[in-house]
Amino acid sequence: MMPDTAFPLEFTPQVEAETAAIRARLAGKVSELEWQLHAPLIAAINRLKKEKNAVVLAHNYMTPEIFHGVGDYVGDSLGLAREAAKSEAAIIIQGGVHFMAETSKILAPEKTVLIPDLRAGCSLASGITGADVRLIKQRYPGVPVVTYVNTTADVKAETDICCTSANAVQVVEWAAKQWGTDRVILIPDQFLAKNVARQTDIKIIAWAGACEVHERFNASDIADVRAAHPGAVVLAHPECPPDVIAASDFTGSTTAMADYVTKNQPKQVVLITECSMADNVTADAPGVEFLRPCNLCPHMKRITLQGIYDSLVKHQYEVTVDPELIPRAAQAVQRMIDMPPLAKPARYDMVKARHHVDVEMIS
Ligand code: 13P
Ligand code: SF4
Repeated sequence: MMPDTAFPLEFTPQVEAETAAIRARLAGKVSELEWQLHAPLIAAINRLKKEKNAVVLAHNYMTPEIFHGVGDYVGDSLGLAREAAKSEAAIIIQGGVHFMAETSKILAPEKTVLIPDLRAGCSLASGITGADVRLIKQRYPGVPVVTYVNTTADVKAETDICCTSANAVQVVEWAAKQWGTDRVILIPDQFLAKNVARQTDIKIIAWAGACEVHERFNASDIADVRAAHPGAVVLAHPECPPDVIAASDFTGSTTAMADYVTKNQPKQVVLITECSMADNVTADAPGVEFLRPCNLCPHMKRITLQGIYDSLVKHQYEVTVDPELIPRAAQAVQRMIDMPPLAKPARYDMVKARHHVDVEMIS
């Protein structure tokens, strides 16, 4: 007999009717054959979520069938963290990478947080440890530590306040003011640190971490695309190297980039970031042509519809955080969440004006 939590995964007329609105949003992105494989999983996941009081928090880099099909909340790291903190569901399924699931658990320790694939890591999060941060603090006593959310819980626990790509400048300036200093440690992404340094007078001390997806872009990618498509608007994520940011027209978090496209509806756009972004934004910008280049994040791509379905049916894989770490890590994330919302998204406008602002690298 089939367990009561499983549904027959067939493309029946009922499944077709239940998923028709999602199908319409994915028009042009998913072939009919793919759709007949995705739709039964989407219908089953959406029924299972109700049955189990679960929500799927889906990052902007999830594939379109996840993002549009089963995401209850979709957004950037900051938005997902805010949602984890306020969600009333009993179970959070993280459609994203492991540090995001840990952040959810830190903010909602009473909830069950599941990640469909434990191998969904992040090169930034694996590039620094809590022990590293303790040594940094010894070297720079009294200097506040701002940590990008793309870090493990033990790193967050050593941190004064977290930031994301959406609020890094604001958080750095807040920390400098609170601690009464003109220097702030901003770790672990050296490129985010360098891009922030170009927007503030606060001196930035940085760690040599990088995102394996964004560090691969270079300014000649942008020069090539501009040569081939002179009117194209170029948007880049602040994890890209500074010369890429300097060559782009707008920089912001994944949600800030999506908002820019849906609001401005440029004729042609290049999103210098992970490839699924363009596939997801196109549903709200059907007249916009999305040009390449883009890069795939192998960690984000470990999350699949089948994995989310298995998570719900088999209650796997539970993400836990050492209870000793939770209060300190939660304080760092909560301080960030409690900051007033930005009047407008960080734009890194001063990047072009201030090309040569140095950061101090921690060696
Ligand atoms: P956002 O916070 O902009 O969504 O970025 C998260 C991330 O991992 C980008 O690589
Ligand atoms: Fe980490 Fe980069 Fe993947 Fe984002 S895109 S999860 S920063 S490896």
